[in-house]
Amino acid sequence: MKIQFLVLFITLLFVKPGHTQVCPIIPLPETAIAKPGYFIISKHTPVLINDPSLRRHAAFLQNEVLKTKGVALAFQDQANAPAIKLVLSGKNSSSEAYKLSIEPSEIKIISSGEKGIFYGINSLIQLIRQLPGSEPFAISGWEITDKPALAWRGIMLDESRHFFGKETVKEMLDWMAFYKLNKFHWHLTDAPGWRLEIKKYPKLTLVGGIGNHTDSLAPAKYYTQEDIKEIVAYAAERYITVIPEIDMPGHARSANMAYPEYSGGGTAKYPEFTFNPGKEKTYSYLTDILREVNVLFPSGMIHLGGDEVSFGSKNWERDSGVKQLMQKNDLKNLKEVEDYFVRRMADTVFQMNNKVLLWDEAATGDLPSDKTIIFWWRHDRPEQLKMALDKGYSVVLCPRVPFYFDFIQDTTQRVGRIWKGAIADLRKVYDYMPEQESVIGKRGDQILGVQANLWTENLSTVPHLQYMLFPRIGAFAESAWSAPGKKDYTGFLERLKPQLELYKQDKIYYYNPFNPAVTPEPLPPGKITINR
Ligand code: ACM
Repeated sequence: MKIQFLVLFITLLFVKPGHTQVCPIIPLPETAIAKPGYFIISKHTPVLINDPSLRRHAAFLQNEVLKTKGVALAFQDQANAPAIKLVLSGKNSSSEAYKLSIEPSEIKIISSGEKGIFYGINSLIQLIRQLPGSEPFAISGWEITDKPALAWRGIMLDESRHFFGKETVKEMLDWMAFYKLNKFHWHLTDAPGWRLEIKKYPKLTLVGGIGNHTDSLAPAKYYTQEDIKEIVAYAAERYITVIPEIDMPGHARSANMAYPEYSGGGTAKYPEFTFNPGKEKTYSYLTDILREVNVLFPSGMIHLGGDEVSFGSKNWERDSGVKQLMQKNDLKNLKEVEDYFVRRMADTVFQMNNKVLLWDEAATGDLPSDKTIIFWWRHDRPEQLKMALDKGYSVVLCPRVPFYFDFIQDTTQRVGRIWKGAIADLRKVYDYMPEQESVIGKRGDQILGVQANLWTENLSTVPHLQYMLFPRIGAFAESAWSAPGKKDYTGFLERLKPQLELYKQDKIYYYNPFNPAVTPEPLPPGKITINR
């Protein structure tokens, strides 16, 4: 032990007092000033807190250091060594800002809110994880002040097309926390499979959970309500809100396999695609489902989808119930029927004291602007974004290019999407700023933030999912968190290099932007259909 300290101090004698000005944290903090000297982290270093609410924060830090560096930091009551201090300076539950100072005598994370403390801890964990050698570690001096540029920093995962399961989701939540992302949008229902247990309608999972995008006969895969509670709690420990998406009135095939009496039919290409808006019992059925969803997800938000309904609503024209509905409510066309349906189900969501979240097709509807969040995804349709803003809705920006992570990131890739030649390479993800959408104008305060969406038609294995997410998740985090004026792609790449080592340590199969051949595209088993 003593010899290890001696070696460390001799090493430090040869290191210049100042050190590199590059602060190796992603996303880039607001300010980071290198300070002279080092703090020595050893198993004698205690984590001290000034408020009992920070106990779990201290435990999180201790767990991460143990997991990644194999060092169990000291208990609080052994406080006789220079300490890591977590200091809550207020009770501002919305504050995400923090200050992290590393000096030879102490490490201090200070924030007026618990979230800020958590983000400060994650910056510290990033620095600790990159320290070479073994305990005791010397961590360079820094004075960091930080806060996010955008409030909504989301990732969406589609588990209807392919189901990945709890461990993969938890790993994703771990990395989201590491990169200070805070919203997990969970696409749990769609045509290939229904993945959420609903007690009142067990066939939704037992029948609707059968199959996936590549194998219509795959055994049923879904999350039980206990699984959901576990994931929601795991996310909450990381200040990540989980938002469920129950897609309607389109993308409903899996539900219709289980309960055909509520089906509104579909087309040859999109069979049994819709719920039936012309039957009163459809609304009570879906309300029952949403009541359970509301209990399971305490986020105060439910995403109702509302996308691409026109792909399969043609059949409604022939449905006598829909015809009657149109007559009674003076609905002129199928789009108005769709808006009527969305409005009714949104009202159900409002009655549960939730906000309703919808894809940008629903911007045509007439919903209360203070309770509605529109997700703008059709990057080729800026008019949809404009319409949402004109109506006063809050908006999350997730334009396909560059935020659909099922798009390829390199033209040599064989599996993944492209839009008229456009791909979602790392640089585009990094450079994205809401300001570049000209229709936003002076309405920036309606933009809640950004989201990256992992659709999984083409992604059936965990390595492939990881390959599409890493390292774009880092570039995305910087687009979401860091001040646009401070972003610098070259600096980002410098900071990214050591993070690739962390991916390797954690057995993440990542895309290597410096040398793509090192980690070749993990092609899925079987026949490859290129969906372009
Ligand atoms: C979507 O990509 N259909 C929202």
